[in-house]
Formats: sequence, structure tokens, C-alpha cells
Amino acid sequence: MAPDLQRVVVRAPGKINLSLGVGAVDDRGYHALATVFQAVDLYETISATRADELSLEVTSEVPGEVPLDGTNLALRAAELLREECDVREGAALHIHKQVPIAGGMGGGSADAAAVLVALDRLWGLGLAGERLRRLGARLGADVPFAMLGHTALGRGNGAELTTVLTHGEWTWLLAVPGGHLSTPEVFRRFDEIAARGGRTPAEQPTVDERQLQALSSGNIELLADTLHNDLQVAAFALHPGLEPVVEAAEQLGAPAALVSGSGPTIAVLVEDEVQARSIAAGLMRESLVESCLVARGSAAGASVLDEE
Ligand code: C5P
Repeated sequence: MAPDLQRVVVRAPGKINLSLGVGAVDDRGYHALATVFQAVDLYETISATRADELSLEVTSEVPGEVPLDGTNLALRAAELLREECDVREGAALHIHKQVPIAGGMGGGSADAAAVLVALDRLWGLGLAGERLRRLGARLGADVPFAMLGHTALGRGNGAELTTVLTHGEWTWLLAVPGGHLSTPEVFRRFDEIAARGGRTPAEQPTVDERQLQALSSGNIELLADTLHNDLQVAAFALHPGLEPVVEAAEQLGAPAALVSGSGPTIAVLVEDEVQARSIAAGLMRESLVESCLVARGSAAGASVLDEE
């Protein structure tokens, strides 16, 4: 480990869920999940500079408000690491955001993942990847995946990860409608809809094997066929602007589209960047979305860009 680092820069990717199966609730209120995460090349870049106190500054390429108080996941990650490792010093954190804010793409989780990796280096703690991932899991179910990156199967509450083999790259149009959705509220609505339909959720949901085959063979039609999100119906019910985006994207020729995570970002699977741009133009023309981004998966997990 390099001694006396002054500054460490780390970036971590946003994610989409190619499938999200939701099961029963445990005694902590967390649902059993079976999900396939894919990291995309929209990154949160964190710079951590040596300082006596902890502080946070945010700049952003995407619209939206980020809390700067103690509820911010990046600050909570720094506090957790300080407590766990009995660190006395602080750090000046700067976050530059590219992942849509509160959009179901794990931007806050990527911030937490990048902060853990950066401060582990800056403070010379030498924690192994697995220990950092376990700390990350205490902050949020998506944090360990932001560290691991690429494409992975998540079980348990989402934090038990197994890397999935993929062939080639996938192109996504990320359509950002206005408005926000609260993740706990989407899960609550999911529970209500399941109860009303008289369904008992599975103790541990499973992943469609065909999705893993589609990923390992690079088969876009098969992947389109297997994209699935159990939370989508709940997200549609809470945000009437979402279903029209999914429908329009498919009418405009996309192989498939779905709500990413708990939404409201819609992930549109496309054949290439040219198709992405034409569908984006159609969605904007019909005023169905506020903005569109093109991204590629799989992207690497949290990695150190620079240190001095
Ligand atoms: O883990 P994260 O902080 O992103 O989760 C936000 C909220 O989403 C949790 O407080 C919980 O209400 C819900 N959630 C859940 N089951 C999961 C993951 C999240 O119910 N496996």
C-alpha cells in the first residue's frame, strides 16, 4: 500500500436490473430477491482528499437534488468505515454524478461503493475486497454490486453475488421520465398488489435460466424475451408516466424495455447506438421523457483512477 496518499480518485458504475424477481419479506422488512444486475458505463466519480473533518461536495451532469446531510449514502459509508476501523481523521469528498439521481440505477449505491474503496486506500486500511463488500451490504443491497461490476446474479436481499458470463457488449437507452419513486414505497405497493391477488410470494425467487443463456451467447432476441421486473406493475401504478414510455419504446422498434430496479428510469434494450438515438428522438418528440442517455454494459466495478 502506497504510504501517505493525499488524494484518491475512484469511479463506480450505475446499474440496471435485467431481471428482478421479488419474494417474501424477512423480519427486517427486506424482500428475498433473485436479480441479474448489469453495470453500465455511466459512472459516479469520487475524489477523496486528506482532511481533518469529513465534508462533501457534489457536481452533476444529471438533473435532480442530492441530500448533503447525514442521510447521504456517501457520508454514511465514510462514517461506517471510520467507526469500524477506528479512524480519527476525515476526508474532503467530491462526487461527480453521471447516473440519473433517484432513478432506480443505483447511483447512491455507486457513491457508497466508491467512497469505501477510496477511503480504504486514503486511510491505508488495507481491507480485502470481500470485507469492503460486506461493509457495503450494510449500507444498501446494491452497494456490493457497484464494487463488483460487470454482470452478476444477486440473491438474498440482492447482496449475495455470483458473476454471470456475458458475450459481447449490450447497448441501452436509458429514458428518464420526470418525477421520482421511493424504493420502499414501490416494494410496499408490490406487497399490496400481491396480497390483493391472493398470491404468496416465493421464499426465494429464481432467475430465468434462459436469461443467463442469452447473456453468455450474446443473443439479443432471447435477452429481450427474458427481461422482467416484478416491481414494474407497482412502479406503473405509482407513476402513470412509465407504462407509455415502455409501450412507445417497443413501438418505435426496441427489442424490449422495462423499468430499471424500482424506477422510474426505463431501460430500453437496443441493437446499437443508431437505434438508441432514433428511439430517444421519438420519445422526446412525444414528450414522454425528460432526457435520454445511451450506455453500454457490462462495465467494470469500482476502480481506482488516480492517486497521489
Ligand atoms: O438496500 P436499499 O437501501 O437500496 O433499500 C431501500 C429500501 O428498499 C429498503 O429500505 C426496503 O424498504 C426496500 N428493499 C426491500 N428488499 C430488498 C431491497 C430493498 O424491501 N431486497
